[in-house]
Amino acid sequence: MQNEKVLVLDFGGQYNQLIARRVRECHVYCEVKSYKTTMEEIRAFDPVGIIFTGGPNSVYEEGSPQVSPEIFTMGVPILGICYGCQLMAHSLGGRVTAAQDDTAREYGKTETFYDTDCRLFRGLPARGISWMSHGDYMEKVPEGFQLVAHSAACPNVAICDESRGFYGVQYHPEVNHTEHGRDMIRNFLYEVCHVKGDWTMGDFMRTSIDQIREKVGDGKVLLALSGGVDSSVAAALIAEAVGNQLTCVFVDHGLMRLDEGDEVESAFKKWDINFIRVNAEDLFMEKLAGVTEPEEKRKIIGEQFIRVFEAESRKIGKVDYLAQGTIYPDVIESGLGDAATIKSHHNVGGLPDYVDFKEIIEPLRLLFKDEVRQLGRELHLPEYLVSRQPFPGPGLAIRCIGEITKDKLDILRQADFIFREEVHNAGLEPIMSQYFAALTNMRSVGVMGDGRSYDYAVALRSVQTSDFMTAEWVRIPYEVLEKVSSRIVNEVTGVNRVLYDITAKPPSTIEFE
Ligand code: XMP
Repeated sequence: MQNEKVLVLDFGGQYNQLIARRVRECHVYCEVKSYKTTMEEIRAFDPVGIIFTGGPNSVYEEGSPQVSPEIFTMGVPILGICYGCQLMAHSLGGRVTAAQDDTAREYGKTETFYDTDCRLFRGLPARGISWMSHGDYMEKVPEGFQLVAHSAACPNVAICDESRGFYGVQYHPEVNHTEHGRDMIRNFLYEVCHVKGDWTMGDFMRTSIDQIREKVGDGKVLLALSGGVDSSVAAALIAEAVGNQLTCVFVDHGLMRLDEGDEVESAFKKWDINFIRVNAEDLFMEKLAGVTEPEEKRKIIGEQFIRVFEAESRKIGKVDYLAQGTIYPDVIESGLGDAATIKSHHNVGGLPDYVDFKEIIEPLRLLFKDEVRQLGRELHLPEYLVSRQPFPGPGLAIRCIGEITKDKLDILRQADFIFREEVHNAGLEPIMSQYFAALTNMRSVGVMGDGRSYDYAVALRSVQTSDFMTAEWVRIPYEVLEKVSSRIVNEVTGVNRVLYDITAKPPSTIEFE
């Protein structure tokens, strides 16, 4: 089945992924493509609506990103956001200039008044806060356009030509700060583009399964399973499609959380696939013995991981496809156009060089993280796998300060389990992006019963973040901290002190090493 599609044309703004997510939250499939996409490609994509994103440039500058005037003659509705709005105005005969300090330059939360007769604002309050971030000003709006929103500083916060389905907003409806911003995007889709909303995860799953079957034929697929959400969901999807033609290699480096290796293994039991769990704990422990320097630890783990995977894949022989759990933010961040390049992404660093295969398949490359989780649920993966928080590749090694020993890891595993259990009991997961225990390398004096103890201090870490680049520590209620602390010192031998990390990132990082 062919889904209705919206094209998000990317002019390099910082919220472009968010726009795409908002559209998909409205059950409409969309893709983000560079503003350099040709008219031929745009026609072939066959969108029911187009959204121009924001961007860092000024439309009147030489060399600023532009679109072909033909895009306005396709008969397809267009919503321009910020730069996209100014570009629409500029392209259709309006005039955009740099705002003078005392006129219409606006940043941040701004009280805005909307004309609710306009389809974009239909059914919504006539005033609300919008999030502005523009230094340019539409001095003259194009012929045929009306002004449909204003603020104290700016008479033309939103413009439209309803007859052609063209809408432009100076603010960012996609960010949470804009009240009813999501509803405005929904109105554009449902009231203007007249979509039915046919993007469902069940459909995506069925289509993907058919596509994987067709592509793979009777070939062999190899996947490195880490137990994280992305590789688990990719594995489940491919398992559903081609069953025992798939081999999953799960390298258990002994640095997993309590019972995690068994959980991953049992989740995949129901499929008739070749599931290879390599118990490489002894090897990793041996290589890590005596190593205390954090970067050195990471390097050793990365290298050994590849060695083990390579050895296993040699036993399997030539495979046709290497599968990876690359997801859409990785694809977007790898760069769609000049302006959007943030970082290049390597999903499984180095692996393809070591394995003999014909082609890579990435069945999740068009999904956002929350969609990947939804797909995992459609595939009946257990909830603890689907909703799990991010867990770093080097595992507990970077949460166990100093030399790693099996004893220290066991202490850490138990303390971490108690912390996670109590977070769950208190229902605090939704406010935490990541939470775990770390074993400091500090031992200190305590008193247990009538005796003196000299044991480890466990540190708890819980952060809230949207991008993992910056993070706030979570204000966990004292009662919960008290319960966790008391359970850890009572239940975990070798620990007599529990600390809570109240440092933001920066200056700290989320992990301890
Ligand atoms: P930091 O400690 O840099 O962590 O603030 C930011 C996010 O990245 C995760 N992280 C890793 N993930 N391999 C991974 O797959 C790694 O080596 C690694 N190091 C950090 C960390 O858990 C947090 O979510």
